[in-house]
Parts: sequence; structure tokens; C-alpha cells
Amino acid sequence: MLYTKIIGTGGYLPPRIVSNDDLAVQLAEQGLETSDQWITERTGIRQRHIADKGMTSSQLGTQAARLALADAGIDASEIDLIIVATSTPDHIFPSTACLIQDQLGISGGAAFDVQAVCSGFVYALTTADALIKSGIANNALVIGAEVFSSILDWKDRGTCVLFGDGAGAVVLSKSSEPGILAAQLNADGSQHGILCTAGNVSYGEVVGDPFLRMDGQAVFKFAVNALTKSAQNVTAKAQLELSEIDWMVPHQANVRIINFIGRKLGMPTEKVVVTLDKHANTSAASVPLALDAARKDGRIQAGNVVLMQGVGGGFTWGSVLARM
Ligand SMILES: CC(C)(COP(=O)(O)OP(=O)(O)OC[C@H]1O[C@@H](n2cnc3c(N)ncnc32)[C@H](O)[C@@H]1OP(=O)(O)O)[C@@H](O)C(=O)NCCC(=O)NCCS
Repeated sequence: MLYTKIIGTGGYLPPRIVSNDDLAVQLAEQGLETSDQWITERTGIRQRHIADKGMTSSQLGTQAARLALADAGIDASEIDLIIVATSTPDHIFPSTACLIQDQLGISGGAAFDVQAVCSGFVYALTTADALIKSGIANNALVIGAEVFSSILDWKDRGTCVLFGDGAGAVVLSKSSEPGILAAQLNADGSQHGILCTAGNVSYGEVVGDPFLRMDGQAVFKFAVNALTKSAQNVTAKAQLELSEIDWMVPHQANVRIINFIGRKLGMPTEKVVVTLDKHANTSAASVPLALDAARKDGRIQAGNVVLMQGVGGGFTWGSVLARM
């Protein structure tokens, strides 16, 4: 039987760290009040990495891709598919995947972007898995890369404290050993308004609101219910029990959302990877960054069963269950 396996991971964060205290000072200059205590208690976030102006998703994604290739021990020339999940592409077109392909110095393979906001990585991983299993590709780079700071309204304290920038990447390869075991993707477009960046560029002008807007409480409730059911469904699809999952690598939006889901699934907190205290919500980059962090610090080992979950604007959500 043909499987696809994650054979390498990489993560890259822009060097500038902005702590909650730094942000409180920055917002105070605009007459807005926030505090480390408010942000930490409501979200678990303590700091985020912020890209300098001009730093792009393709630059962050290329760095993460290089690290993932080195970890996998394969040369970029062996990659015949690049899928980038991003909501902050460098351009309207060409895709960020094509720009990363160029920065890696390769050409010829397929390259395209996936737009599923914070679920983007699990959507991209599932797509790459299907393309490898169907014989269309052999070795894929799946990358989540975001400069979310560029679409935040830094005068909206309800959203600007939640997000950060970064990129995570995995190398996925054809294998005779079990790798990706099951996946489930979902969307409910009727909920598009609860988390969106509604503006666009048209006829040479920005039309509408170019900043991220969110109904935080609606997103919170939707995420908990959707991801709980998704975890149960994908585990059943793989004919596993929830107790057989070694690690949960959830989207890093809010530690309270993660804890709610963990409790509903009976997942001990020691089995849940949390990086949002350091990274905040990096949208499509959050899951591959967390996966990489837990592999590199030795928690996730070869053979472990890992549940990766994304949820975000659209509304979109999904789960991928993989044996590492
Ligand atoms: C955003 C979120 C942290 C807000 O927490 P909450 O408990 O729902 O807080 P509320 O929005 O009800 O706001 C409570 C108060 O805090 C205030 N507040 C909002 N942001 C604040 C900030 N950064 N600092 C201080 N006060 C803040 C609000 O203005 C409100 O004040 P009021 O009671 O005087 O009106 C929470 O809803 C959340 O995490 N939702 C999910 C968001 C998410 O994960 N999005 C990404 C999904 S991919």
C-alpha cells in the first residue's frame, strides 16, 4: 500500500519579539488600554514575533522550507510539488508557492497556494497527501507562511494582540510505511462574516476594509464544537481510539479553546503541544511551527500518532492524523 510520510519539518520566526508589555506601551500611545494580565488570562499569549516592514511570506516560507529540507536530508531539486497555505500572500498573483520555488532555485514541479486561513495548513497537507497517493507527485513541500501583522488593525485591541508572524514547513514523501492515516476537511461558508478581511484591491484602489475583523465569542464557540467533532471523526476514519493519539498539535489561537477541546476529548494536557505563549496565532503557520517545535525538542518521536487540527476564517476547519 502507498502512503505519504512526513520526513522533515522546519520552522522560521522573524527575529523581532514583541511582548505583551511592549504591546501595552504601543497601544497606550494611541490611547488604548491593554495589559499582559488581560492578554495572558484570556488567551495564553505572552509574546509574538513580528516581521519588519517589507519582510514577506515567501521569505519566511523559504527559510522554513530550507530547514525542513535539511531535516529530511533531501535536496530541493527532488521536490516536485509546493503547496503554500497563506492568507497574506506577497502578491495577488503569482502565488507565494511560485516565489518560494524560485527562491529555492528549483523549477518544473507544481506550485500553488491554498486559501483556508488558519485551517490552511491542514487543507494543504491533505491536498499534498492526495496528489502523492494518486501518483501526481513524489516529494512535496507543504508550507504555512504568514505576515499577519500586515492585515491587523493596530488600533483594534480586540484583535491586534492575538496574532503573530512566522512560517512552518514539512517535507512529505511517498512511502511504503504508514504516514498520513486519515484526514477530514470541512467548511461552513454561511459563517464567513465572523472572521474576515473583507476588503480587496480593485481598479487600482483598496475597496472596503483591509483589516482583519472578528466576532471573538462566535469564533470561540464555533472552534470548540467543530474541532471536537472533527477529532472524533478523523480518529474513527483511521480506525483508532482517541487514547491511541500520542500528540495533539492544535491550531494555536487561544489556550482556552485548546483546553476545552482537550477536556471534551479526554486528552491529557501533557499530550497537547502549545506554542501560542511564544508565537501567538500565526494562522496557517501555527500547526507546522508547533509540530516542528515538538519534534525538535524531542517530544514527538518517530512512530508517534499525531493529530493536527486547524480552524479559521471561511469558516473552515479540519484534522489530519499522521504516524510520524
Ligand atoms: C478575542 C477574545 C480573547 C476576547 O475575549 P472575551 O472574553 O470574549 O472578551 P470580550 O470580547 O467579551 O471583551 C471583554 C472586554 O475586554 C475588552 N478588551 C478587548 N480586547 C482587549 C484587550 N486587548 N485588552 C484589554 N481589554 C480588552 C473588551 O472591550 C471588553 O470590554 P467591555 O466589557 O468594557 O466591553 C476571545 O473571544 C477569543 O479568544 N475568541 C477566539 C478568537 C480566536 O481564536 N480567533 C482566531 C481563530 S482562528
